[in-house]
Amino acid sequence: MAWIVAIPAERRADETRVAATPETVKKFKGLGLDVRVEAGAGGKARISDQEYAAAGATMVPGAGAVLNNADVVLKVRGPSEAEIGQIKRGAVLVGLLSPATERETIAKMAAAGIDAFAMEFLPRISRAQSMDVLSSQANLAGYKAVIDAAAQFGRAMPMMMTAAGTIAPARVLVMGAGVAGLQAIATARRLGAIVSATDVRPATKEQVESLGATFVAVMDEEFKQAQTAAGYAKEMSKEYQAKQAALIAETIRKQDIVITTALIPGRKAPVLVTEDMVKTMRPGSVIVDLAAEQGGNCPLTQPGRVIEAHGVTLMGYTNLPGRLAVDASNLYARNLFNFISLFIDKKTGAARINWDDEIIKGANLTRDGAVTHPSLAAA
Ligand code: NAI
Repeated sequence: MAWIVAIPAERRADETRVAATPETVKKFKGLGLDVRVEAGAGGKARISDQEYAAAGATMVPGAGAVLNNADVVLKVRGPSEAEIGQIKRGAVLVGLLSPATERETIAKMAAAGIDAFAMEFLPRISRAQSMDVLSSQANLAGYKAVIDAAAQFGRAMPMMMTAAGTIAPARVLVMGAGVAGLQAIATARRLGAIVSATDVRPATKEQVESLGATFVAVMDEEFKQAQTAAGYAKEMSKEYQAKQAALIAETIRKQDIVITTALIPGRKAPVLVTEDMVKTMRPGSVIVDLAAEQGGNCPLTQPGRVIEAHGVTLMGYTNLPGRLAVDASNLYARNLFNFISLFIDKKTGAARINWDDEIIKGANLTRDGAVTHPSLAAA
């Protein structure tokens, strides 16, 4: 029997994205699966029920009906308690499940017999690149952060030479040069700003410079070792943090816009911009804190809010990709389709889960009633 793939509408008020698009519905149908979409699910991403239906989805009103007896449930954010109760035992659920903070929800999914997969835990190996939700969404977040900052900033980004005189280019500092940071650098450069960037991973220096930005960091022995085998940042020593903070304090004073993107997987975001640093910035400057949801890279940031402190605007949006709901949904839905196609035998079209596949194993949180992921099992 063909698997039924269900796409409920997102339940969180601030979530604009949707986990499938007409394009991926067609692709699922092409694999021989049945697709059910909750009526209205694509509304905020500008996808009508008619478009889903034309692509071959069955449109169903209400979460209960869409989830009833589904084999695969595709979500953007974690399920609500009611949804968990409506999903059958043994079903696969995939989404951005915030494994580091949503332990209770994960335990409930385990108890309900749901096999849950968190896209955050997808191993970052080449074969998984087309499924890499963190990259696809962070890229859009980095772009949007600069656009939001430019819109808020009371001055222009590029240098302009006019008959009435010259306008100086804006100075932008990007903190954290991962996927979001590199896109922020590229976007700010395209708008004509003078851009500098900082990161604790030595590999980023060359990437930053290749985008035409200046690299700012204390490059001592610790810095040279500051990368895990998985390519992520390590938590730095107190000594390094103090030296780096002094250099950043000196740099920040001269900036108009600061975009912070620094994260350490599974931990609270490091504080990189202190209140004292904010005080040194010129009135009208803008900080966009992409780490807002993980505690913020600036302690003044208020998650989900845009505030002003010491004459500086602090933007603490918690769902920047959601502010580009159409593109974010398109990329996210393709990531999920590529992930789910791992579960389908290409020759026979039969659904089966290869639990030894490193991608499937890496992203798996719960299975057969138990929490399976090693990072969650200990707690
Ligand atoms: P992330 O979202 O976890 O962190 C963002 C950035 O903040 C990172 O560059 C990190 O080094 C930096 N950071 C952390 N603490 C900092 C501090 N105290 N000061 C300054 N910067 C700090 O990282 P993201 O963007 O998800 O990925 C990081 C890297 O992982 C990528 O740049 C890449 O090298 C690797 N990656 C590999 C992929 C693959 O398929 N092979 C796919 C995507 C990423």
